[in-house]
Amino acid sequence: MRGRSFRCHRIGAVSCGLLLCEKFPHDWCSVLSPADSLAPQWLIEPTDANALAAGVWPASANRNGDGDLFIGGVASSDLARAYGTPVLVLDEDEVRARARAFHQSFAAAAAEHDTTARVYYAGKAFLSTAIARWVSEEGLNVDVCTRGELEVALAAGVDPARIGFHGNNKSISEIERAVEVGIGTIIVDSAIEIERIAAVTLRTGAVQRVLVRVNSGVHAETHDFLATAHEDQKFGMNFTDAEIAVARIRDLPGLEFIGLHCHIGSQIFGVAGFRESASRVLELHAKLRAGGEIPLLNLGGGFGIAYTSVDDPTPIEQLAAEIVTAVADGCAVRGIPLPTLAFEPGRAIVGTAGVTLYEVGTTKDVQLDSGSRLYVSVDGGMSDNARPALYGAQFSARIASRVSAEKPVLVRVVGKHCESGDIVVEDEYLPGDVAPGDLLAVPATGAYCASLSSNYNHVPRPAVVAVSHGHSRVIVRGESIEDLLARDAGISTNEGAR
Ligand code: LLP
Repeated sequence: MRGRSFRCHRIGAVSCGLLLCEKFPHDWCSVLSPADSLAPQWLIEPTDANALAAGVWPASANRNGDGDLFIGGVASSDLARAYGTPVLVLDEDEVRARARAFHQSFAAAAAEHDTTARVYYAGKAFLSTAIARWVSEEGLNVDVCTRGELEVALAAGVDPARIGFHGNNKSISEIERAVEVGIGTIIVDSAIEIERIAAVTLRTGAVQRVLVRVNSGVHAETHDFLATAHEDQKFGMNFTDAEIAVARIRDLPGLEFIGLHCHIGSQIFGVAGFRESASRVLELHAKLRAGGEIPLLNLGGGFGIAYTSVDDPTPIEQLAAEIVTAVADGCAVRGIPLPTLAFEPGRAIVGTAGVTLYEVGTTKDVQLDSGSRLYVSVDGGMSDNARPALYGAQFSARIASRVSAEKPVLVRVVGKHCESGDIVVEDEYLPGDVAPGDLLAVPATGAYCASLSSNYNHVPRPAVVAVSHGHSRVIVRGESIEDLLARDAGISTNEGAR
């Protein structure tokens, strides 16, 4: 189990609630290697710069005899021809298989300890009606954190009772809508929110099930979780405030307290952080049982994936078994029954299923004191993948339209935006003859790429195309220039110009 998905010299606030520096060990930072002064030490020069690293690509990814990269049985060159570039290709079977693996692994681990588990797909990673349907069909519930995400899940036909609603600032109208549709759970994040839900349920006569989000104080620094008295971040409540919140909820006829929730971060490798957080939250859970049974404990999401060949996430089955056993042990020590457990993976369901296809537009050798760096510019960038710019996130890349016997060269893949930080892949080895017109595939873009995308520089957001068994179909239409102009009230054909 190893993680290396963020540059260490930029500590990124990656998760809802935690300041992360996921790079470890620290010799994997962007330290210059003596062998190649521009290559970071973690990046190993491949013998074959056409090879697809295990675990980084969807299981279906392979090359045909001509070297064309196939995903879900569809050739990249056909996808580019049919849908243009950039395009986000999502392997439906990969999403389904991962959803199934989470569902089955946590169910089996829970059954070992005579309890049950619920897995919620965290829609913030990437939500569309197709994805919501796939994960629901594979047995998952859905977690949303805004009215917009809720409406997508509802439009997909997800049973409202199987939806959980997160967020540190849910508006009254969001709460009204959630209660009105009969949402399964609302995860309360503040004392003010309790009164908002109470007011809504008083009006409607509904009884709303709620969880209380606590801040367990665990730093998700994968290798070294440290207790901190007070996390300086916006999510959840400390244990004292959570206790007061639960007492208040128990006093209100329109709210039903069903359990505690915590989420320690994102892109976490291993189970140590989850184990420590669960142990702390169980302490409060055990104490609160004096006021009544507590049927549920939600430990959030955050399971890491491989973005490059050196990331080595723990297999889902092992994660499930180790985390559930840790909670079961924690309950046994405290002499309390093991509640139903809930988890909220997002990235680990969709991340590896996504591959973005770009077309190379220009290449340029940039002379530096210590040598030269080959910049490869593609036709997208930070508008379709903000993660490198936001978090210093690392990705990898391969030429998709062909293979080449040319010696690998160190490249930096950049976008077309007017920012020098518009980096798609900071460091990668590609065949030395990479050239304009090549299709370039960037794997592991299924999570937090489309959902964080923007129209920066008035670049239209790309289509999302699902592939499965040799077929492809658009699941989110790409934007057109007309879409971009449509909101501009100064254009004479638009209403509201004055
Ligand atoms: N549950 C809660 C309460 C969360 O806040 C999150 C993520 C998840 C579950 C799902 O976490 P996952 O399994 O996907 O790691 N934009 C960042 C990630 C932000 C995560 C926000 N919360 C990125 O691109 O890395």
